[in-house]
Amino acid sequence: MAPIKKLTGPSKLPDVKTTIFTTVGNLARKHGAIDLSQGFPNFEADKKLMELVTLAMHQGHNQYAAMQGYYGLREIIAKKIEKLHGRVYHPDEEVTITVGATQAIFTAITAFVHSGDEVIVIKPAYDCYEPAIVLNGGIPVYVQLSKKDYKIDWEDLKGKINTKTRMLIINTPHNPSGRIFSKDEMLQLQEILRPTDIIVVSDEVYEHIVFDGEEHESASRFDALAERSFVCASFGKTFHVTGWKMGYCAAPSDLMHEFRKSHQFAVFCVDHPVQRAMAKYLEDERHYLELNSFYQKKRDFFLSGLQQTKFRFTPSQGTYFQLLDYSELTDERDEDLAKRLIIDYKLASIPISSFNTGQRNDGVLRFCFAKKKETLEAAIEILSNV
Ligand SMILES: Cc1ncc(COP(=O)(O)O)c(C=O)c1O
Repeated sequence: MAPIKKLTGPSKLPDVKTTIFTTVGNLARKHGAIDLSQGFPNFEADKKLMELVTLAMHQGHNQYAAMQGYYGLREIIAKKIEKLHGRVYHPDEEVTITVGATQAIFTAITAFVHSGDEVIVIKPAYDCYEPAIVLNGGIPVYVQLSKKDYKIDWEDLKGKINTKTRMLIINTPHNPSGRIFSKDEMLQLQEILRPTDIIVVSDEVYEHIVFDGEEHESASRFDALAERSFVCASFGKTFHVTGWKMGYCAAPSDLMHEFRKSHQFAVFCVDHPVQRAMAKYLEDERHYLELNSFYQKKRDFFLSGLQQTKFRFTPSQGTYFQLLDYSELTDERDEDLAKRLIIDYKLASIPISSFNTGQRNDGVLRFCFAKKKETLEAAIEILSNV
């Protein structure tokens, strides 16, 4: 009855289809598959954290928080960044609490990307960057990581920079490859950007999931990167509560001032009791410092179980994802194998070609090991029989 098409008009995102996560998730549910596809834990968060949220509600923190976020939370975040990375952000002017890292990234793009501006995206990339660029009239420009080791081709990156380049989005530790940018790589990036006015969005949601004694090299550690960067983080990832959708970003005050102009009209502020709880929970730094070893045990357990299989791998350096190379098994495209694994073997993973430019098929699948031991055991058993 209603002329839906006329009302809808031309799509602002004509190329956006149902995400691979939804497609794979639906298929996994239909076939009762073990789900190692989506990036979230299947174990519970700390009860202490939940109690702190309940307490905050009972203490009456149920109305709007400050637009920038509860001051006590911004203050403890600033202290954490200073301690870990040596950068001082002023809690009043340089830290904002957001609806997950996703909103921080979306808002940073919205605040700075004008129609016709180019934004460099490093592929394979998490899927929330490009729609935000396109919705703001920006043009995504791709730098594709190498298939062998997922490293940046610096000449390619330099060649993509021109007077229209407004922004560059980086992600370390990197989803889906599990690579972390080394100090040398961050220094290299800093030198390339030094003569430019490019703003960096540094997606660091896996900042506390780094293995084998390596360090997370936050953009905030490097003077000439920090002065142009939004460092975006996620409490969902760090505290096993992705469903709470809470994160933050830190940036120099002039950039943050502009960011907040958009932020206040997109969300105004975010969930108040959860902010109170996070501020209290962050007082004990073990809650985030112990995450590296917590997830390293899971990664090592998963990988030791895979030694005897036909899958090959380079151990993930960070994140809770592991890429498995299946080239000894088959030369199928990744999405075909992922589908077959769900239907025939009842195990779900993510084909990463959809995150590459030109759907490049790397012959790898992404598995999330943020799962209970018994889930990982069952997955190993299945992978041993493929
Ligand atoms: C690289 C990356 N960035 C951002 C996000 C989203 O973070 P949040 O849930 O805090 O919005 C994810 C979630 O999977 C991610 O993998």
